[in-house]
Amino acid sequence: MPSNFEVQKTEIIYMKEIRMVDLSGQYQKIKSEVDTAIQEVIESTAFINGPAVKEFQADLEKYLGVKHVIPCANGTDSLQVAMMALGLKPGDEVITTSFTFIATAEVIALLGLTPVVVDVDPDTFNIDPNAIRKAITPKTKAIVPVHLFGQSVDMDAILDIANENKLFVIEDACQAIGADYKFLDGTIKKVGAIGHVAGMSFFPSKNLGCFGDGGAIFTNDDKLAEQLRVVVNHGMTVRYYHDYVGVNSRLDSIQAAVLKVKLKYLDEYIKARQAAADYYDNAFKDHPKLKVPTRAANSTHVFHQYTLVTKDLDRDEMQKFLMANKVPAMIYYPVAMHMQKAYQDPRYKEGDFPVTEHLQKHVISLPMHTELDEEQLGYICSKVLEFANR
Ligand SMILES: Cc1ncc(COP(=O)(O)O)c(C=O)c1O
Repeated sequence: MPSNFEVQKTEIIYMKEIRMVDLSGQYQKIKSEVDTAIQEVIESTAFINGPAVKEFQADLEKYLGVKHVIPCANGTDSLQVAMMALGLKPGDEVITTSFTFIATAEVIALLGLTPVVVDVDPDTFNIDPNAIRKAITPKTKAIVPVHLFGQSVDMDAILDIANENKLFVIEDACQAIGADYKFLDGTIKKVGAIGHVAGMSFFPSKNLGCFGDGGAIFTNDDKLAEQLRVVVNHGMTVRYYHDYVGVNSRLDSIQAAVLKVKLKYLDEYIKARQAAADYYDNAFKDHPKLKVPTRAANSTHVFHQYTLVTKDLDRDEMQKFLMANKVPAMIYYPVAMHMQKAYQDPRYKEGDFPVTEHLQKHVISLPMHTELDEEQLGYICSKVLEFANR
């Protein structure tokens, strides 16, 4: 028998195709439940704001331990609506990370707010609290910590900074649903239930993904929740009376019905991702050219992505080699926020954020989902090691 890392070429023929994300395998396991839930919505014709939306909302509030879940159309909207409901105004500065998906900074810019980006911690890839302190000015109004790849930002530090400077904390929890943050006093909270408000994405490939676009906003603040509900619904307080300029951002009932079923399995899905991450860690942890993801002491890691940092090897060649060997591998993210064409700003230049700039050249993410089996993991590891040992 070959060991896990020495899979023979002939075996590849029989191995399930390796995908970056395998939504089809996951669906097959819950097909009858999901199909029934979707069919119920179709037969009820309550496509918008139907019972499924309210039920999912209540289930998620319970799961997260958060007072209010306000469903919306996608994760990008969740962040935009949060900023609108907080009353942020053009010219207000919002501090966020230089290493994230574009949506985080996009909504800041769209609202005419000023995105202020800061560097990240080299181990967790999350926003560096010391860098935030240095970036605060009298115009700073909010911080957007992004729980990148599935692990919480150092929220003790973020809340301290926010309290000292009277800033809003808008968590971008889009990649980290289900992650637990442990405060210095021992209290444990789910990410998204910690700041003043949080944004969540249910994009299909997310840890809790629907069958299209979906999102939600979380808050423990009753007044803010009321305002969030107004903003997502055209700024409407009483039907056809619009006191604010709002948006149309709804989670449709079919998506909510899917999410309600999948939420029951979320902890199981997280365990499957963690098991795959353990397998990868075990294969790579002692390799001098591969740095496995650091697991922060104060957070669980729900592994939205499993991201290696490479050393002394050609990362782009490695990606090509893996792809040629039928192992999908992605670069999240190849361009730092301040280097994006659309976000060029005289305040920033190449070299300003050395950690992010190093990461963008050296990170590589491996397949990560709930359906990876040992044969696939063994094969992926063997190919990564084959390249790294060259
Ligand atoms: C960190 C982060 N923020 C925001 C978003 C935006 O979410 P959506 O694609 O649902 O608009 C995503 C998802 O892609 C994300 O990963």
